[in-house]
Amino acid sequence: MSELNLQVVLADRPKGFPDISDFAFKEMPMPKPGEGEVLLKTLYMSVDPYMRGRMNEGPSYARGVEIGEVMMGGTVGEVVVSNDASLKLGDVVQAQVGWQTYGVAKGSSVRKIDADLAPVSTALGVLGMPGLTAYFGLLDVGQVREGDTVVVSGAAGAVGSVVGQIAKIKGCKVVGIAGSETKVSYLVDVLGFDGAFNYKTTSDYRGALKELCPEGIDVYFDNVGGEISDAVFPLLNQHGRIAVCGQISQYNLEKPELGPRIMGQFIGKRLRMRGFIVSDFADQYTPALETLSGWIRTGKIQYREDIWEGLKMAPTAFIDMLKGGNIGKRLVKLA
Ligand SMILES: NC(=O)c1ccc[n+]([C@@H]2O[C@H](COP(=O)([O-])OP(=O)(O)OC[C@H]3O[C@@H](n4cnc5c(N)ncnc54)[C@H](OP(=O)(O)O)[C@@H]3O)[C@@H](O)[C@H]2O)c1
Repeated sequence: MSELNLQVVLADRPKGFPDISDFAFKEMPMPKPGEGEVLLKTLYMSVDPYMRGRMNEGPSYARGVEIGEVMMGGTVGEVVVSNDASLKLGDVVQAQVGWQTYGVAKGSSVRKIDADLAPVSTALGVLGMPGLTAYFGLLDVGQVREGDTVVVSGAAGAVGSVVGQIAKIKGCKVVGIAGSETKVSYLVDVLGFDGAFNYKTTSDYRGALKELCPEGIDVYFDNVGGEISDAVFPLLNQHGRIAVCGQISQYNLEKPELGPRIMGQFIGKRLRMRGFIVSDFADQYTPALETLSGWIRTGKIQYREDIWEGLKMAPTAFIDMLKGGNIGKRLVKLA
């Protein structure tokens, strides 16, 4: 085993869009696991939109990354030293050790992955945090019902692509919004969405939605916020539901955008909007993952991984994902 641990640390707090210079590489001695802990060799690391928020100073729903600290994030790693009786050498687990080649975790905080179910990398995607976000956001927060028309923004990404497919399983009509023609055809031709449009080449979002959803919209799964969401709200039907999952269009703004005044719509139409964090549902992860695995096994859910190689590529892979370079789950493979 190498004696050094290579890390990506936060070098500076981004102003607006993150830049490669906001990150630095550091070589550290190999960490040593204590009692009840394991040393993990990172196999895959996740790069996710929420990490942008962690790079900011100030309070959020989770602790931010300090300057000089390792970028936090989900990982899939192999146990190389174990001081926890329930984990043995060679076990592959999902952990949260961040952007580094090795990391120490409490044995009780990791999830053992069954490699027979699906490739272990999926524990960071469709069978991990993003898949669970789609599952609970649509079924619990969005209260989706058979026959609903569901619109999902950020539709070709890790969360959105699963949202649309679960909605199809539940007997809904599904329309996706995404940022390229390739993404639009992936949604419609491969994943079975009923319709989709490219917001980067469409000037009239509301017109495009009206055409695709002539019967109105019952559930809006919002991954992006901003002008796309502004166009959706007026088309919601009576008792429409909005699951506010993410607002990626706002994450890199230096000044907050002013939105239209939409609250009047909520009264007459009895709309319900609810924000959520996937960990609100942590006590229900196990059965949800069983259901998601079943849907993958039977071909009802397809997934795509967009894998970059090497720790040094992590900052670029992250920035490129924020700009829409990914289809499906963006990951970085280390070993
Ligand atoms: N609430 C929770 O617990 C929770 C958990 C996980 C994720 N999330 C949120 O869910 C959303 C999706 O996350 P993900 O992991 O699945 O990421 P993702 O969709 O795989 O990747 C991000 C995508 O956002 C799109 N995007 C970037 N800037 C945009 C803009 N200005 N307007 C519209 N779309 C834009 C890009 O696709 P295009 O090419 O389509 O622009 C990009 O591919 C994010 O907002 C994230 O913060 C929330």
